[in-house]
Amino acid sequence: MNADLVVVGTGFFGLTVAERLASAGRKVLMIDRREHLGGNAYSEAEASTGIEVHRYGAHLFHTANERVWEYVNRFTRFTSYEHRVYTTHRGEVFPMPINLGTINQFFRSAYGPAAARELIREQAAELGDRVPENLDEQGVRLIGRPLYEAFIREYTAKQWQTDPRELPASIIKRLPVRYTYDNRYFNDPHQGLPVDGYTAWLERMADHPNIEVRLSTDFFDSSQPVHQAAVVGQVPVVYTGPVDRYFDYAEGELSWRTLDFETEVLDVGDFQGTSVMNYADAEVPYTRIHEFRHFHPERDYPDDRTVIMREYSRFAARQDEPYYPVNTADDRERLKRYRDLMAAERDVHFGGRLGTYQYLDMHMAIGSALSMVDNQLS
Ligand code: FDA
Repeated sequence: MNADLVVVGTGFFGLTVAERLASAGRKVLMIDRREHLGGNAYSEAEASTGIEVHRYGAHLFHTANERVWEYVNRFTRFTSYEHRVYTTHRGEVFPMPINLGTINQFFRSAYGPAAARELIREQAAELGDRVPENLDEQGVRLIGRPLYEAFIREYTAKQWQTDPRELPASIIKRLPVRYTYDNRYFNDPHQGLPVDGYTAWLERMADHPNIEVRLSTDFFDSSQPVHQAAVVGQVPVVYTGPVDRYFDYAEGELSWRTLDFETEVLDVGDFQGTSVMNYADAEVPYTRIHEFRHFHPERDYPDDRTVIMREYSRFAARQDEPYYPVNTADDRERLKRYRDLMAAERDVHFGGRLGTYQYLDMHMAIGSALSMVDNQLS
Protein backbone atom coordinates (compact mmCIF):
# COMPACT_ATOMS: atom_id res chain seq x y z
CA MET A 1 0.00 0.00 0.00
CA ASN A 2 1.43 3.34 -1.07
CA ALA A 3 0.29 5.51 1.88
CA ASP A 4 1.96 7.20 4.86
CA LEU A 5 -1.31 7.20 6.81
CA VAL A 6 -4.69 5.46 6.68
CA VAL A 7 -7.72 7.43 7.83
CA VAL A 8 -10.83 5.41 8.65
CA GLY A 9 -13.92 7.59 8.17
CA THR A 10 -14.41 10.55 5.84
CA GLY A 11 -16.37 12.80 8.24
CA PHE A 12 -15.09 16.23 9.25
CA PHE A 13 -12.57 14.76 11.67
CA GLY A 14 -11.00 12.39 9.15
CA LEU A 15 -11.09 14.94 6.32
CA THR A 16 -9.38 17.60 8.42
CA VAL A 17 -6.56 15.25 9.41
CA ALA A 18 -6.19 14.02 5.83
CA GLU A 19 -6.20 17.50 4.28
CA ARG A 20 -3.63 18.88 6.73
CA LEU A 21 -1.23 15.98 6.34
CA ALA A 22 -1.67 15.80 2.55
CA SER A 23 -0.84 19.52 2.36
CA ALA A 24 2.30 18.77 4.37
CA GLY A 25 3.38 16.25 1.71
CA ARG A 26 2.15 12.96 3.23
CA LYS A 27 0.24 10.39 1.19
CA VAL A 28 -3.12 9.66 2.82
CA LEU A 29 -5.50 6.82 2.09
CA MET A 30 -9.05 7.39 3.36
CA ILE A 31 -11.69 4.70 3.57
CA ASP A 32 -15.38 4.87 4.46
CA ARG A 33 -17.89 2.11 4.70
CA ARG A 34 -20.62 4.33 3.26
CA GLU A 35 -21.03 4.88 -0.48
CA HIS A 36 -20.43 8.63 -0.09
CA LEU A 37 -17.83 10.74 1.66
CA GLY A 38 -18.47 13.35 4.36
CA GLY A 39 -19.84 11.39 7.33
CA ASN A 40 -22.98 12.74 8.95
CA ALA A 41 -22.67 16.21 7.48
CA TYR A 42 -23.29 14.82 3.96
CA SER A 43 -26.17 16.38 2.04
CA GLU A 44 -27.71 15.85 -1.39
CA ALA A 45 -30.22 17.50 -3.68
CA GLU A 46 -33.67 15.90 -3.51
CA ALA A 47 -34.20 14.57 -7.06
CA SER A 48 -37.51 16.17 -8.02
CA THR A 49 -37.06 19.63 -6.45
CA GLY A 50 -33.29 20.19 -6.23
CA ILE A 51 -33.74 21.18 -2.56
CA GLU A 52 -30.65 20.33 -0.48
CA VAL A 53 -31.51 17.69 2.12
CA HIS A 54 -29.23 16.81 5.05
CA ARG A 55 -29.50 13.01 5.01
CA TYR A 56 -28.38 12.46 8.62
CA GLY A 57 -30.26 15.34 10.26
CA ALA A 58 -30.09 19.12 9.94
CA HIS A 59 -26.57 20.57 10.16
CA LEU A 60 -26.04 24.23 11.04
CA PHE A 61 -22.51 25.51 11.16
CA HIS A 62 -21.53 27.82 14.02
CA THR A 63 -18.31 28.54 15.89
CA ALA A 64 -16.53 30.96 18.19
CA ASN A 65 -13.18 29.33 17.40
CA GLU A 66 -11.21 31.74 15.16
CA ARG A 67 -8.75 29.08 14.04
CA VAL A 68 -11.55 26.79 12.89
CA TRP A 69 -13.38 29.67 11.20
CA GLU A 70 -10.26 30.65 9.24
CA TYR A 71 -9.68 27.00 8.29
CA VAL A 72 -13.21 26.21 7.06
CA ASN A 73 -13.28 29.38 4.97
CA ARG A 74 -10.52 27.91 2.83
CA PHE A 75 -13.04 25.42 1.44
CA THR A 76 -16.37 27.21 1.35
CA ARG A 77 -18.09 30.55 1.71
CA PHE A 78 -20.99 30.79 4.15
CA THR A 79 -24.43 32.35 3.80
CA SER A 80 -25.68 34.74 6.47
CA TYR A 81 -28.29 32.22 7.69
CA GLU A 82 -29.04 32.50 11.42
CA HIS A 83 -30.84 29.55 12.95
CA ARG A 84 -34.15 30.06 14.75
CA VAL A 85 -36.40 27.37 16.17
CA TYR A 86 -40.09 27.43 17.11
CA THR A 87 -42.14 24.93 19.07
CA THR A 88 -45.79 23.94 18.92
CA HIS A 89 -47.47 23.37 22.28
CA ARG A 90 -51.23 22.81 22.72
CA GLY A 91 -52.00 24.30 19.32
CA GLU A 92 -49.90 27.43 19.81
CA VAL A 93 -46.46 28.33 18.41
CA PHE A 94 -43.75 29.74 20.70
CA PRO A 95 -40.18 30.91 20.02
CA MET A 96 -37.31 28.76 21.30
CA PRO A 97 -35.01 28.61 23.20
CA ILE A 98 -37.14 30.03 26.02
CA ASN A 99 -36.79 33.81 25.92
CA LEU A 100 -38.75 36.87 26.98
CA GLY A 101 -41.06 36.39 24.00
CA THR A 102 -41.81 32.78 25.05
CA ILE A 103 -42.38 33.78 28.69
CA ASN A 104 -44.70 36.68 27.92
CA GLN A 105 -46.70 34.67 25.39
CA PHE A 106 -46.99 31.70 27.74
CA PHE A 107 -48.01 33.70 30.84
CA ARG A 108 -50.09 36.21 28.80
CA SER A 109 -47.97 38.95 30.33
CA ALA A 110 -45.71 41.88 29.51
CA TYR A 111 -42.81 41.28 31.89
CA GLY A 112 -39.55 43.14 31.47
CA PRO A 113 -36.29 41.21 31.99
CA ALA A 114 -36.08 41.81 35.78
CA ALA A 115 -39.70 40.82 36.49
CA ALA A 116 -39.41 37.70 34.30
CA ARG A 117 -36.20 36.69 36.04
CA GLU A 118 -37.89 37.07 39.43
CA LEU A 119 -40.89 35.00 38.31
CA ILE A 120 -38.71 32.14 37.07
CA ARG A 121 -36.57 32.31 40.21
CA GLU A 122 -39.69 31.95 42.41
CA GLN A 123 -41.08 29.09 40.33
CA ALA A 124 -37.72 27.31 40.28
CA ALA A 125 -37.50 27.49 44.10
CA GLU A 126 -40.34 24.96 44.45
CA LEU A 127 -38.07 22.11 45.56
CA GLY A 128 -36.20 24.19 48.15
CA ASP A 129 -32.72 22.87 48.91
CA ARG A 130 -33.53 19.29 47.92
CA VAL A 131 -31.07 17.80 45.41
CA PRO A 132 -33.05 16.78 42.28
CA GLU A 133 -33.43 13.02 42.13
CA ASN A 134 -34.34 12.73 38.49
CA LEU A 135 -34.57 14.71 35.29
CA ASP A 136 -38.13 15.85 36.07
CA GLU A 137 -37.05 17.49 39.33
CA GLN A 138 -33.94 18.91 37.70
CA GLY A 139 -36.11 20.59 35.03
CA VAL A 140 -38.34 22.15 37.68
CA ARG A 141 -35.29 23.34 39.61
CA LEU A 142 -33.79 24.98 36.53
CA ILE A 143 -36.77 26.85 35.04
CA GLY A 144 -39.82 26.24 37.27
CA ARG A 145 -42.66 23.79 36.76
CA PRO A 146 -44.93 25.66 34.27
CA LEU A 147 -42.29 26.23 31.59
CA TYR A 148 -40.63 22.86 32.20
CA GLU A 149 -43.90 20.96 31.86
CA ALA A 150 -44.97 22.87 28.75
CA PHE A 151 -41.76 22.87 26.71
CA ILE A 152 -39.32 20.31 28.07
CA ARG A 153 -41.05 17.43 29.84
CA GLU A 154 -42.86 15.65 27.03
CA TYR A 155 -40.30 16.62 24.39
CA THR A 156 -37.56 15.01 26.50
CA ALA A 157 -39.73 11.93 27.08
CA LYS A 158 -40.03 11.58 23.28
CA GLN A 159 -36.28 12.05 22.78
CA TRP A 160 -35.46 9.34 25.31
CA GLN A 161 -38.62 7.23 25.01
CA THR A 162 -38.54 7.22 28.79
CA ASP A 163 -40.54 9.06 31.47
CA PRO A 164 -38.24 11.90 32.73
CA ARG A 165 -38.93 10.72 36.30
CA GLU A 166 -36.92 7.63 35.38
CA LEU A 167 -34.06 9.53 33.76
CA PRO A 168 -31.03 10.78 35.72
CA ALA A 169 -30.94 14.49 36.61
CA SER A 170 -27.46 14.71 35.07
CA ILE A 171 -28.84 14.55 31.49
CA ILE A 172 -29.81 18.22 31.73
CA LYS A 173 -27.16 20.44 33.27
CA ARG A 174 -28.70 23.70 32.18
CA LEU A 175 -31.73 24.91 30.31
CA PRO A 176 -31.07 28.23 28.64
CA VAL A 177 -33.53 31.03 29.39
CA ARG A 178 -32.88 34.37 27.73
CA TYR A 179 -34.25 37.50 29.32
CA THR A 180 -34.27 39.32 25.99
CA TYR A 181 -36.25 38.80 22.80
CA ASP A 182 -33.18 37.38 21.03
CA ASN A 183 -34.26 33.98 19.71
CA ARG A 184 -31.22 33.14 17.61
CA TYR A 185 -30.46 29.51 18.40
CA PHE A 186 -26.68 29.94 18.54
CA ASN A 187 -24.74 32.73 20.23
CA ASP A 188 -21.53 32.14 18.29
CA PRO A 189 -20.09 35.08 16.35
CA HIS A 190 -19.68 32.95 13.20
CA GLN A 191 -22.65 31.06 11.80
CA GLY A 192 -24.08 30.23 8.41
CA LEU A 193 -24.52 27.49 5.84
CA PRO A 194 -22.08 26.55 3.07
CA VAL A 195 -23.08 28.57 0.00
CA ASP A 196 -22.98 25.62 -2.38
CA GLY A 197 -23.87 22.92 0.10
CA TYR A 198 -22.11 20.59 2.53
CA THR A 199 -21.05 18.00 0.01
CA ALA A 200 -19.21 20.54 -2.19
CA TRP A 201 -17.35 21.70 0.94
CA LEU A 202 -16.51 18.15 2.04
CA GLU A 203 -15.36 17.16 -1.45
CA ARG A 204 -13.07 20.19 -1.67
CA MET A 205 -11.33 19.07 1.53
CA ALA A 206 -10.57 15.69 -0.06
CA ASP A 207 -9.56 17.19 -3.41
CA HIS A 208 -5.78 16.91 -3.09
CA PRO A 209 -3.33 14.85 -5.18
CA ASN A 210 -1.98 13.24 -1.99
CA ILE A 211 -5.41 11.97 -0.88
CA GLU A 212 -7.01 8.79 -2.17
CA VAL A 213 -10.57 8.00 -1.05
CA ARG A 214 -12.04 4.49 -1.17
CA LEU A 215 -15.77 4.34 -0.46
CA SER A 216 -17.95 1.31 0.40
CA THR A 217 -14.91 -0.05 2.24
CA ASP A 218 -15.41 -1.32 5.78
CA PHE A 219 -12.30 -1.37 7.98
CA PHE A 220 -13.45 -4.68 9.48
CA ASP A 221 -14.10 -6.43 6.19
CA SER A 222 -11.07 -8.68 5.77
CA SER A 223 -12.05 -9.49 2.17
CA GLN A 224 -10.82 -6.10 0.98
CA PRO A 225 -7.14 -5.03 1.03
CA VAL A 226 -7.33 -2.14 3.53
CA HIS A 227 -8.66 -3.72 6.70
CA GLN A 228 -7.75 -3.69 10.38
CA ALA A 229 -5.50 -6.77 10.48
CA ALA A 230 -3.69 -5.77 7.26
CA VAL A 231 -3.00 -2.20 8.26
CA VAL A 232 -2.52 -1.78 12.02
CA GLY A 233 1.16 -1.94 12.90
CA GLN A 234 2.17 -1.44 9.24
CA VAL A 235 1.18 2.19 8.80
CA PRO A 236 -0.18 4.85 11.22
CA VAL A 237 -3.99 4.82 11.40
CA VAL A 238 -6.47 7.53 12.37
CA TYR A 239 -9.68 5.75 13.31
CA THR A 240 -12.97 7.68 13.53
CA GLY A 241 -15.45 4.77 13.66
CA PRO A 242 -17.09 3.50 16.88
CA VAL A 243 -14.47 2.71 19.52
CA ASP A 244 -16.29 -0.37 20.88
CA ARG A 245 -16.45 -1.85 17.37
CA TYR A 246 -12.68 -1.40 16.93
CA PHE A 247 -12.08 -3.71 19.91
CA ASP A 248 -14.83 -6.10 18.82
CA TYR A 249 -16.95 -5.03 21.82
CA ALA A 250 -14.43 -6.60 24.22
CA GLU A 251 -15.59 -4.33 27.07
CA GLY A 252 -19.27 -4.39 26.05
CA GLU A 253 -21.35 -2.06 23.92
CA LEU A 254 -21.50 1.69 24.46
CA SER A 255 -25.09 2.94 24.25
CA TRP A 256 -26.32 5.50 21.73
CA ARG A 257 -29.53 7.18 20.71
CA THR A 258 -30.44 7.16 17.04
CA LEU A 259 -32.95 9.03 14.90
CA ASP A 260 -35.41 7.88 12.27
CA PHE A 261 -36.18 10.33 9.49
CA GLU A 262 -39.30 10.39 7.35
CA THR A 263 -38.81 12.57 4.28
CA GLU A 264 -41.69 13.76 2.15
CA VAL A 265 -42.08 16.01 -0.91
CA LEU A 266 -45.23 18.12 -0.66
CA ASP A 267 -47.09 19.99 -3.39
CA VAL A 268 -47.04 23.29 -1.54
CA GLY A 269 -44.50 26.10 -1.83
CA ASP A 270 -44.13 26.51 1.92
CA PHE A 271 -45.31 24.05 4.55
CA GLN A 272 -44.45 25.65 7.89
CA GLY A 273 -42.85 29.04 7.17
CA THR A 274 -39.62 28.19 9.00
CA SER A 275 -36.79 25.66 8.91
CA VAL A 276 -37.42 23.78 12.17
CA MET A 277 -40.63 23.34 14.14
CA ASN A 278 -40.41 21.36 17.38
CA TYR A 279 -43.45 19.51 18.71
CA ALA A 280 -43.43 19.74 22.50
CA ASP A 281 -46.45 17.53 23.23
CA ALA A 282 -46.59 13.76 23.74
CA GLU A 283 -49.56 13.32 21.34
CA VAL A 284 -47.34 14.10 18.34
CA PRO A 285 -45.01 11.12 17.91
CA TYR A 286 -42.15 12.98 16.19
CA THR A 287 -39.94 15.54 17.93
CA ARG A 288 -39.64 18.03 15.06
CA ILE A 289 -40.14 18.76 11.39
CA HIS A 290 -37.40 20.25 9.21
CA GLU A 291 -38.30 22.11 6.04
CA PHE A 292 -35.10 22.35 4.06
CA ARG A 293 -35.95 25.18 1.66
CA HIS A 294 -35.82 27.65 4.57
CA PHE A 295 -32.13 26.94 5.19
CA HIS A 296 -31.41 28.64 1.84
CA PRO A 297 -33.85 31.48 1.19
CA GLU A 298 -31.26 32.89 -1.24
CA ARG A 299 -31.62 29.90 -3.61
CA ASP A 300 -33.93 29.62 -6.55
CA TYR A 301 -36.02 26.64 -5.39
CA PRO A 302 -39.39 25.76 -6.98
CA ASP A 303 -42.23 27.79 -5.47
CA ASP A 304 -44.86 25.04 -5.68
CA ARG A 305 -43.07 22.14 -3.95
CA THR A 306 -41.19 21.65 -0.71
CA VAL A 307 -39.32 18.90 1.18
CA ILE A 308 -40.03 18.18 4.85
CA MET A 309 -38.44 15.65 7.19
CA ARG A 310 -40.05 14.37 10.38
CA GLU A 311 -37.61 13.29 13.08
CA TYR A 312 -38.22 10.47 15.57
CA SER A 313 -35.83 9.57 18.37
CA ARG A 314 -35.06 6.21 20.02
CA PHE A 315 -32.34 4.05 21.56
CA ALA A 316 -29.97 2.58 18.96
CA ALA A 317 -29.47 -1.13 18.36
CA ARG A 318 -26.11 -2.35 17.01
CA GLN A 319 -27.17 -2.10 13.34
CA ASP A 320 -28.55 1.48 13.72
CA GLU A 321 -26.65 4.70 13.05
CA PRO A 322 -25.19 5.86 16.38
CA TYR A 323 -26.05 9.57 16.79
CA TYR A 324 -25.92 10.77 20.42
CA PRO A 325 -24.00 9.04 23.24
CA VAL A 326 -26.37 8.04 26.05
CA ASN A 327 -23.49 8.22 28.52
CA THR A 328 -24.88 6.27 31.48
CA ALA A 329 -22.64 5.48 34.47
CA ASP A 330 -22.07 2.03 32.89
CA ASP A 331 -21.05 3.66 29.60
CA ARG A 332 -18.54 5.86 31.40
CA GLU A 333 -17.01 2.84 33.15
CA ARG A 334 -16.81 0.96 29.86
CA LEU A 335 -15.27 3.96 28.13
CA LYS A 336 -12.52 4.09 30.76
CA ARG A 337 -11.63 0.49 29.98
CA TYR A 338 -11.69 1.22 26.25
CA ARG A 339 -9.38 4.18 26.85
CA ASP A 340 -6.84 1.80 28.38
CA LEU A 341 -7.08 -0.40 25.30
CA MET A 342 -6.76 2.65 23.02
CA ALA A 343 -3.61 3.80 24.82
CA ALA A 344 -2.05 0.36 24.28
CA GLU A 345 -2.82 0.29 20.55
CA ARG A 346 0.39 1.10 18.72
CA ASP A 347 0.21 3.93 16.15
CA VAL A 348 -3.58 4.06 16.07
CA HIS A 349 -5.10 7.47 16.84
CA PHE A 350 -8.74 7.52 17.87
CA GLY A 351 -10.69 10.65 17.05
CA GLY A 352 -14.03 12.21 16.19
CA ARG A 353 -17.52 11.65 17.49
CA LEU A 354 -17.56 7.84 17.32
CA GLY A 355 -13.90 7.21 18.07
CA THR A 356 -14.06 9.13 21.37
CA TYR A 357 -17.73 8.48 22.29
CA GLN A 358 -18.73 12.10 22.69
CA TYR A 359 -21.11 14.43 20.94
CA LEU A 360 -19.07 16.90 18.88
CA ASP A 361 -20.44 19.76 16.84
CA MET A 362 -18.75 20.17 13.46
CA HIS A 363 -16.50 22.97 14.62
CA MET A 364 -15.43 20.84 17.61
CA ALA A 365 -14.64 17.83 15.40
CA ILE A 366 -12.58 20.06 13.09
CA GLY A 367 -10.87 21.81 16.03
CA SER A 368 -9.92 18.56 17.72
CA ALA A 369 -8.61 17.13 14.42
CA LEU A 370 -6.39 20.20 14.00
CA SER A 371 -5.08 19.62 17.54
CA MET A 372 -4.42 15.95 16.82
CA VAL A 373 -2.40 16.93 13.75
CA ASP A 374 -0.37 19.43 15.82
CA ASN A 375 0.18 17.21 18.84
CA GLN A 376 0.35 13.65 17.57
CA LEU A 377 0.80 13.47 13.80
CA SER A 378 3.03 16.30 12.56
P1 FDA B 1 -18.86 11.33 11.31
O1 FDA B 1 -19.88 10.45 11.92
O2 FDA B 1 -19.31 12.48 10.49
O3 FDA B 1 -17.89 10.44 10.38
C1 FDA B 1 -17.46 9.15 10.75
C2 FDA B 1 -17.31 8.33 9.49
O4 FDA B 1 -16.69 7.08 9.82
C3 FDA B 1 -18.65 8.00 8.83
O5 FDA B 1 -18.65 8.45 7.49
C4 FDA B 1 -18.72 6.47 8.90
O6 FDA B 1 -19.34 5.87 7.79
C5 FDA B 1 -17.24 6.09 8.98
N1 FDA B 1 -17.05 4.77 9.56
C6 FDA B 1 -17.53 4.29 10.72
N2 FDA B 1 -17.16 3.00 10.88
C7 FDA B 1 -16.41 2.66 9.81
C8 FDA B 1 -15.76 1.47 9.40
N3 FDA B 1 -15.82 0.34 10.13
N4 FDA B 1 -15.07 1.47 8.24
C9 FDA B 1 -15.01 2.58 7.46
N5 FDA B 1 -15.64 3.74 7.80
C10 FDA B 1 -16.31 3.78 8.96
N6 FDA B 1 -22.95 19.64 14.28
C11 FDA B 1 -23.06 20.99 14.15
O7 FDA B 1 -22.05 21.70 14.27
N7 FDA B 1 -24.27 21.56 13.86
C12 FDA B 1 -25.41 20.83 13.70
O8 FDA B 1 -26.48 21.37 13.45
C13 FDA B 1 -25.31 19.41 13.85
N8 FDA B 1 -26.40 18.63 13.71
C14 FDA B 1 -26.31 17.27 13.94
C15 FDA B 1 -27.46 16.48 13.87
C16 FDA B 1 -27.37 15.12 14.14
C17 FDA B 1 -28.61 14.28 14.08
C18 FDA B 1 -26.12 14.54 14.51
C19 FDA B 1 -26.03 13.10 14.87
C20 FDA B 1 -24.99 15.32 14.55
C21 FDA B 1 -25.07 16.69 14.27
N9 FDA B 1 -23.94 17.49 14.30
C22 FDA B 1 -24.05 18.85 14.15
C23 FDA B 1 -22.62 16.89 14.58
C24 FDA B 1 -21.83 16.52 13.32
O9 FDA B 1 -22.53 15.54 12.60
C25 FDA B 1 -20.45 16.00 13.80
O10 FDA B 1 -19.73 17.05 14.36
C26 FDA B 1 -19.62 15.42 12.69
O11 FDA B 1 -20.33 14.41 12.04
C27 FDA B 1 -18.37 14.84 13.33
O12 FDA B 1 -17.57 14.31 12.35
P2 FDA B 1 -16.80 12.94 12.60
O13 FDA B 1 -15.81 12.87 11.51
O14 FDA B 1 -16.30 12.84 13.99
O15 FDA B 1 -17.91 11.79 12.48
